[in-house]
Amino acid sequence: MAILPLASIETPAYVLDAVALARNLAVAARIKRETGCNIILALKGFAQWSAFPLMRGTLDGTAASGIHEALLGHEKFGGEVHVYSPAYDDAEIAVLIPISHHIVFNSPSQFARYYPRIKKAGGKVSCGIRINPELAQAKTVLYDPCAPCSRLGTRKESLFSAATEGLEGLHVHALCENMAEASVRLIQTVDREFGGFIRERGIKWVNFGGGHYITHAGYDVNALIVALKIFTEKYGVKVILEPGGALAYDAGFLVASVLDIMENGKPIALLDTSATTHMPDVLEMPYRPNILGAGAAGEKPFTYLLGGRTCLAGDVLGEYSFDAPLQVGDKLVFTDMAQYSMVKNTTFNGMPLPDIGILHPDGKYERVRRFGYEDFKTRLS
Ligand SMILES: Cc1ncc(COP(=O)(O)O)c(C=O)c1O
Repeated sequence: MAILPLASIETPAYVLDAVALARNLAVAARIKRETGCNIILALKGFAQWSAFPLMRGTLDGTAASGIHEALLGHEKFGGEVHVYSPAYDDAEIAVLIPISHHIVFNSPSQFARYYPRIKKAGGKVSCGIRINPELAQAKTVLYDPCAPCSRLGTRKESLFSAATEGLEGLHVHALCENMAEASVRLIQTVDREFGGFIRERGIKWVNFGGGHYITHAGYDVNALIVALKIFTEKYGVKVILEPGGALAYDAGFLVASVLDIMENGKPIALLDTSATTHMPDVLEMPYRPNILGAGAAGEKPFTYLLGGRTCLAGDVLGEYSFDAPLQVGDKLVFTDMAQYSMVKNTTFNGMPLPDIGILHPDGKYERVRRFGYEDFKTRLS
């Protein structure tokens, strides 16, 4: 566990733990080494580009959800740029062609619309189509690309009946924080349902998406490695994984301060952070973040309802207990705040965005970015 130099951290601040990030990258490195697959960083989950120099030695590039992430991956990460968007427009395709290695289309109709232009450009872009394996394994519907009537990906029957000349890859993303059994089931399902298509149409690569929680305790990395090797050997294709959350899992903190304490039925502490603006997945997933040294309500002697300082009535983090009464100025450290935090934050209410910093392996904290009023103003006009 990293020791945070709290006195040197002004709040609120997202603090990336470089040691924990390296631990996650080591898992990715092993999977790559033992299977020959490529692993790219899904920028939607983690896009702190000051940390890219720590990642590019291990990873093959980035997976973008659209034009701006693709530009960021191209400019700041290097390596391969893979893009998937549920739908592209003409202007985006024009920007993407020169910077992308893989462009994945959501449907045969988008592929048919843009493949001629990609072919004419004569560059390095390899085209894929995202499939819907019709295998629902994500725990919540909000995060399940295989939920009924999903718009994400092409179902088997539509794919088989489509003209696919020029198509080189299949992409499947159907997991969310899933363990190895789900990863293996997904790989086996693609093998069973799409193996014929892969052979008949000369598919060269298969991207098994993200949501594989490879760095989570209990994830059976060996099982994933075995399944990937079987698939790769059977079809002779290049296999790609594009995790986001797993690479940044438990590799960062959000450090916040207590601003005020009040009473309304129970003690309430107001923080200089906010669930809705700085850690929106707390409300969206929803989940209860951990705070270092704090317990569940009543577990320790002093329990508080922790709230953010926006006007949203539900901007509440939950009840936490502490060994001593909270004081104004106390710092609280929320864990696992690297993934899906800074990429999703907002300036709702004009809330200042947290600093972005790195806790280096020597224990020193480096603030790499401070945001201010200009950042709020320039998003509006
Ligand atoms: C297409 C695609 N690839 C990769 C990911 C990354 O998933 P995760 O961060 O769960 O690994 C997502 C997440 O939604 C996605 O939609």
